Amino acid sequence: MEEKDLGADLASVLVTAEQIQDKLAELAARIDEDYQGRDLLLVGVLRGAVMVMADLARTLHHPVEMDWMAVSSYGSGTKSSGVVRILKDLDTDVAGRNVLVVEDIIDTGLTLSWLLTNLSSRGPASVEVCALLRKPDMIRVDVPVRYVGFDIPNEFVIGYGLDYAQKYRNLPFVGTLAPHLYA
Ligand code: PRP
Repeated sequence: MEEKDLGADLASVLVTAEQIQDKLAELAARIDEDYQGRDLLLVGVLRGAVMVMADLARTLHHPVEMDWMAVSSYGSGTKSSGVVRILKDLDTDVAGRNVLVVEDIIDTGLTLSWLLTNLSSRGPASVEVCALLRKPDMIRVDVPVRYVGFDIPNEFVIGYGLDYAQKYRNLPFVGTLAPHLYA
């Protein structure tokens, strides 16, 4: 997809495709250095993290393993209740492993906070987080995020894994959605 495919549904481009790829290269260089000589398991959180995971992994020189989790919030259907259930668990035993959780966005931080507690209980050697986007104004719980791409304002963002009603995940950039769609 390209900008013009969205027409009036796109309000603005917040992070361009080039900015995303440049940032992932920068983060990958840090990750390569930090995990030199150590094994590394990337854990992508479905579905939003698919794009970040794919591009980050291809930019790394490190021979990583990749696995996936799918989680969902209990209750009202809002994603930020903080009470999470696992829809798809890892196929990998993370005991003794260096785990790097890969996320598209940290909003309230509640999903990640739950996930970090869950993964830590499995006895990994280490657990760190890499997130492409973070909304500092929305954070409700302090989560340690070692690798952050961009801090963004509290706007409805789509693209590069992020959806509106399950669409627009396949944009190569991150944009804001025109308010008439969700007002
Ligand atoms: C998004 C995102 C994070 C979570 C962040 O996933 O990928 O997992 O929300 O929100 P939080 O910081 O407020 O907990 P979402 O539930 O939208 O599912 P998706 O990845 O399938 O789109």
